[in-house]
Amino acid sequence: MSAIDLLDVRKVYRDRDGQDLVALERTRLSLAAGEFLCLLGPSGCGKSTLLNLVAGFEAPSSGEIRVAGRRVERPGADRGVVFQQPTLMPWLTVIDNVAFHLTLKGVGRAERRERAQAYLDLVGLRGFERHYPAELSGGMSQRVGIARALLMNPAVILMDEPFAALDAQTKSEMQEELVAIWERVGATVIFVTHSVDEALVLGTRVAVMSRRPGRIREVLPFDAPRPRDVTSPAFNDVKRHVLGLIRAESARPPRAA
Ligand SMILES: Nc1ncnc2c1ncn2[C@@H]1O[C@H](COP(=O)(O)OP(=O)(O)O)[C@@H](O)[C@H]1O
Ligand SMILES: [Mg+2]
Repeated sequence: MSAIDLLDVRKVYRDRDGQDLVALERTRLSLAAGEFLCLLGPSGCGKSTLLNLVAGFEAPSSGEIRVAGRRVERPGADRGVVFQQPTLMPWLTVIDNVAFHLTLKGVGRAERRERAQAYLDLVGLRGFERHYPAELSGGMSQRVGIARALLMNPAVILMDEPFAALDAQTKSEMQEELVAIWERVGATVIFVTHSVDEALVLGTRVAVMSRRPGRIREVLPFDAPRPRDVTSPAFNDVKRHVLGLIRAESARPPRAA
């Protein structure tokens, strides 16, 4: 059984003028458990839409999404989500932000702290438990968001350009750390990015979407050894191919909805 299936998913939004806007069209995709799929495509092609549908924040207009064989109808603890902005609660300390879902579930304070501490250690934030979000750098805030998403031990991790706002050095540290965490927890990941390099540093497969209305245009396996050597011929062959696909999509006139 696959970990995630998108079966002919279509998503239509109503725009401000009352016109239908087709964000996703006949989108088919299956992920095996433990895969790390990076999703690339021109801006506005429906990457966030796809992620939000798998997360259960929105419902498809037609088609179906399944996680571990079960139809997605709402958000669930089986799916951890990390956004571009970490959406921390400014009035809670780092450890209470990480433990937030446990608080909602009524787990007692001592157990909450113990479980949150383990994930803070995992993302390298030991010593910052009592800090508030305003006292953190962008990279540290993003780590808190990742720890919060991992805490429920989700089978699926959904990440929407989580490192886009970080400086180059922090970004590459976070990428390394994410790969180490993924290898350790064995989750299935969908990671949205607009960076081909990032996709090829992280992914076991790279999916390129077409311009809106988005579909999966091509899915490429990439099994180069880790840590990935961005100067290797294998890396650059795939990069050239993916860049070509994205350029072709960006240059194409939009199809009528
Ligand atoms: N809630 C919404 N209401 C109306 N249109 C939306 C909504 N969310 C996204 N869209 C539109 O759907 C298309 C795909 O958006 P999105 O999934 O955010 O693209 P991406 O993440 O690939 O940049 C865009 O044209 C966007 O304007
Ligand atoms: Mg987006």
